[in-house]
Amino acid sequence: MDALFIFIEQIIHSMLQEITTLRSQIETELPAVTSAELLDQFRLRHLVKKGTLTGLMERLREVPKEDKPIVGKALNELRQFVELEFTRLKDSFDSSQAATKLIDVTLPGRREKRGSVHPVQQTLDGILSVFRKMGFSVAEAADLEDDYHNFEALNFAPDHPARDMQDTFFIKDERSDLLLRTHTSSVQIRMMQSQAPPIRSVMPGRVYRNEAVSARSLAEFHQVEGLCIDKNVTFAELKGTIITFAKEMYGANSKFRFRPSYFPFTEPSAEVDISCYLCSGKGCRICKYSGWLEICGCGMVHPNVLKNCNIDPEVYSGYAFGFGIERVTMLRTGIDDIRLLYENDVRVLEQF
Ligand code: PHE
Repeated sequence: MDALFIFIEQIIHSMLQEITTLRSQIETELPAVTSAELLDQFRLRHLVKKGTLTGLMERLREVPKEDKPIVGKALNELRQFVELEFTRLKDSFDSSQAATKLIDVTLPGRREKRGSVHPVQQTLDGILSVFRKMGFSVAEAADLEDDYHNFEALNFAPDHPARDMQDTFFIKDERSDLLLRTHTSSVQIRMMQSQAPPIRSVMPGRVYRNEAVSARSLAEFHQVEGLCIDKNVTFAELKGTIITFAKEMYGANSKFRFRPSYFPFTEPSAEVDISCYLCSGKGCRICKYSGWLEICGCGMVHPNVLKNCNIDPEVYSGYAFGFGIERVTMLRTGIDDIRLLYENDVRVLEQF
């Protein structure tokens, strides 16, 4: 009886021992199971009918009934552990296989879109570089102005229509004379008041007019104005400056004409036209069959304006000019609707 007892004790002991050994053997095997193929070999070693686990299960028969629960429990825990590890590995190989299948290595790579300088900014950079070469400095001031700098000092009559709400954006404020500047001529006044002649500056900036938006006009656009004040400055110098600038911008073969015009702050005043870039002066839709396109307003600074800035018109004279940057951009690029410049459609912008 005793001998049998010892024998049975030994069976249980060795079974439990084998279960522990198998578990640690499997635990050391697992890190090496790095592919679906190796996992299959693992399965054939342990999980099939002739595998290690079933082998141990079959030997459960040898264990006496009352001890079956202990050994059975240990065996079940081992089987659960092995099955769990098997599914975990299988899932990880399946999903990495799925991911490899999704990548089509023959597809062309995604190109990164490179930004570019906006055509209006390109025009402004070009304009400023031409004027810098001619000895002009660059001056700027705020978009928010007062009536004095935008109109009064520039010799606008008190009842001038530009001062009307229909033409100008006024700011609702305790001060009723604040407005969004309608031209950068206001910067000329600020320059002349803060600095003694000689002055030779260009003033780029954003300007605002209460206008309906159309293919030809925006309520918010950009201008560059120029101002030159010194002794003995003549209209001939104004013409020379504008023609030199315009030939640099539009090409040496462009033709120009000066037409008499009117601005409150210049006398005499003129408007400059360039021969149409599309039809070279023959007449077409762009130039409305006139052969000419207007590019700039200009004139000799009015003596009243000089006086308003404490500059003696008997000693000094000067010229001023101004033009819209969007307009120059349209002439340069052939864009015939000004709104295209600000719709930010990359198909338009990436052409420049
Ligand atoms: N300020 C004028 C405009 O906005 C342009 C201009 C500037 C005309 C300087 C003459 C001299 O239309």
